[in-house]
Amino acid sequence: MKDQVGDSGITAESFEAIAQLAYRESGLQLAVEKISMIQSRLRHRLRALNMADFDDYSAFVCSEDGADERRHMISALTTNVSHFFREKHHFDILQSRIADMLLPKLKNGEKVRIWSAGCSNGQEALSIAMTLAEAIPNVLDLDIRILATDIDPNVVKFATAASYPERLTSGIPETLLQRHFRKGSENGETVFIANKELQQMIAFRELNLLTSWPMKQKMDIIFCRNVVIYFDLDTQNRLWPRFHQMLKPDGYLFLGHSERIADTDTAGFRTDGPTTYRPTTASTSTEPLSKEH
Ligand SMILES: C[S@@+](CC[C@H](N)C(=O)[O-])C[C@H]1O[C@@H](n2cnc3c(N)ncnc32)[C@H](O)[C@@H]1O
Repeated sequence: MKDQVGDSGITAESFEAIAQLAYRESGLQLAVEKISMIQSRLRHRLRALNMADFDDYSAFVCSEDGADERRHMISALTTNVSHFFREKHHFDILQSRIADMLLPKLKNGEKVRIWSAGCSNGQEALSIAMTLAEAIPNVLDLDIRILATDIDPNVVKFATAASYPERLTSGIPETLLQRHFRKGSENGETVFIANKELQQMIAFRELNLLTSWPMKQKMDIIFCRNVVIYFDLDTQNRLWPRFHQMLKPDGYLFLGHSERIADTDTAGFRTDGPTTYRPTTASTSTEPLSKEH
């Protein structure tokens, strides 16, 4: 009988194979201490494939025939927790820069692009869209759009449908909920569906941050929050220069509350408040943000 990791039902070899695969495919680090969570997240994949144990599963998912399953596996392993207006200070910064940074660009005929990288179920992108829609009348007439991407095809599908059970809407102030969502019912549950204006501002796409990025247009603002926390330092350090290259010289990069750029100089960024970064090229001549930012 092969050695199992604890009483997980996963052998050390299978765990290692799955962990290496997850790291290679998505940058996710599977810690052995989280084995019971990993096992419970993958158990339904074994059931779906009618497989008896994790040895069979790891052999299959690592094989040439396992390409489809690799996507299911990454989807099962990702943590998709999100909520509307999470870490609100970034939305305050966005709002404060609409008039003096984004609108002048739009009036000059420049496109404005905002990227929600690791968008999960879409709450971040919709919070950005609501912030813009509140501040800019007829926002759809202007060339300002949000790209929202995630490695997990299931969350991209959910986000595209833009329909949220009531329990997920608690972060949305009542006035915004009234203005930007319509109430509906799905399978006997009350849902709130984002209106067309918000939906048309956002393009949801599947994208693995570790692969090449197809976007040609540089971004004005990148939200990549609570994503790199699942990556090791090497993977994070490879991402920063890529974000830098993807940002306009006066852009912003927002990270999650427990994330930071370890070496800002090398990455070409300077800090501009908690979990807020700007390229070192960004001018400092704009109005300073208030203290709480
Ligand atoms: C905890 S959620 C964060 C959602 C949102 N940004 C927020 O802060 O509320 C992390 C998301 O990152 C995605 N993710 C993990 N690894 C990724 C990768 N390599 N490429 C793209 N997205 C990834 C996961 O699928 C998940 O939806």
